[in-house]
Parts: sequence; structure tokens; C-alpha cells
Amino acid sequence: MKKFILLAVLALALLSFAACNNDTESGADSGTDSGRRTLVMGTSAGFLPFEFIADEGQGVIGQYAGIDVSLVYRIAQELDVDVVIQNQEFVGLIAALQSREIDFIAAGMTIRPDRAENVNFSIPYFTTGQFVVVRQDSNFHSVADLENMIVGVQFGTTADIAITDGQDDGVVTFQEIARHNQPVTAVLDLVSGSVDAVVVDAPVARGFVAQHPDTLRFFYDHTFFGPEQFGLAFHLDDLELLAEFNAVLERLLAEGFVDYLYEYYTDKLGLNE
Ligand code: ARG
Repeated sequence: MKKFILLAVLALALLSFAACNNDTESGADSGTDSGRRTLVMGTSAGFLPFEFIADEGQGVIGQYAGIDVSLVYRIAQELDVDVVIQNQEFVGLIAALQSREIDFIAAGMTIRPDRAENVNFSIPYFTTGQFVVVRQDSNFHSVADLENMIVGVQFGTTADIAITDGQDDGVVTFQEIARHNQPVTAVLDLVSGSVDAVVVDAPVARGFVAQHPDTLRFFYDHTFFGPEQFGLAFHLDDLELLAEFNAVLERLLAEGFVDYLYEYYTDKLGLNE
């Protein structure tokens, strides 16, 4: 009897060890197919054309589509890993990565030295900058014109940082910096008149203007904003994963895959005026 119990305990221990092992190998995977690694991508959907919730049945990963989603889908195929998406507020993405709630970030995230203290960025895959979206009937043509106005930004983004720094440095004083968790709600406030301008990444700004061609326009202020480059972001300790992604990304960029995705999505979404 004693022997039997001992054997049973051993067998259980072995089983649970195998189960644990399988868990760590396959991450959030259901564990049904062959121990393929599953990586959790953190993003903040509602940032067209980079990430958005697709129409029924049109999702590329889960219900999500967009340049970042399709790019990651392709990299994952080549690395033979599965990817699931955690959609959340942009401002919390880096903390989620640091606490390993997610394995990497693909969210049109601009590479910045201060962020690079907390994450490892991939090679850049997209170059852009900030545009200011305003109502057509307004007289604003520079950030300086926005003195005493209400400016909307997405919380924690480079738009937020630039506008906040401009104010802190005394370059221009706004009536209010309206920080939204989603750019779209800032733009709705702009359309309805409770916000005077929205600062957002150029491709996203183009999209909003294309959606409201009779109401909105955008301008660029080179004295206030500089060029920005997007990178995928990884945990500081995950150098191997970073190298794997970079190797594929480098080849895809050389093939013009991101340019292709940009054309494809702006066209499909009707984002070019
Ligand atoms: N490029 C800007 C930044 O890095 C905005 C990114 C917002 N991304 C998003 N998925 N909402 O701060």
C-alpha cells in the first residue's frame, strides 16, 4: 500500500511537472497543438491604419487588423509562433510589458530614449510625425496660434509629451490639455467644438480628416514637432526574442512589406483624401 501511494505521488509530481513545463513553453496557448510558443502582443486599437477592430470575420489576429497587426502576423508565421492580442490603454503598455502581462508591444509606438530605458525597441519600421487637426473654420496654422485653446491628445503619447513639454517650457500656454485614452473621442470633441485642436500621428490625422472632409483639416508645425520612428518593443531581458523579430523585420522592410501594408490599409479604409 505504501509503495502504491509513493508511486502515485511520483506519477502526479511528474504529470504536474510536465504540465508546468508545457505551460511555460506555450504561454497562453490552450496547449493543444504541439507546444508552439504563443506570444501576447500588447496594443491599443483605435489607431487607424495601424491597429483597429476589424469588421466581423475580417480580423487578422483575433478581431484585430491594421499595419501593426498584419506585420506581426507575418513575422509570427516566419518564426513559427502563435500570437494573441491584449488590447488596452496606450499609456499602460510599457508597464504591462515590464510586468510580463504581455510579451511585446506593437502599437505605433515611437522610439524614444526615455522609453528605451524600460524596453528594447526593434529596428524602426515606420517614419512619421505629429499633425495638428483643427476645424476648417478655425484660424490656427501653428501651435503658437493655440495659445489659450483646448488641445486634445491621447494620454501618454508623443503628442501628449510634446504639448505638455511646450507648455512646461513656456513656449505656449494652453487653456487645457485634454488627455483622452482614445484619439477618436478627442476628435469627436473637436468636431462638436469642445476641443480646439487634436495632436496625433500624421497617418491617423489624415484618416480623421478623410472621415470628416467638410469639417476638419490638419497642419504640420516643424518648429514644434520632429520626425518620429515606430518600433516594436520587447522586455529588456528578452534579447533573443528581439533578435529573432529584428532578423525577420529587416528582411520584410527590404522587401517593401510595410510600404505595401500602408498602401493596402489606407486604400482599404479610404484614409487618403
Ligand atoms: N506614436 C505615438 C507614441 O508612440 C502614438 C502611438 C499611439 N498608439 C496607439 N496604438 N494608440 O506615443
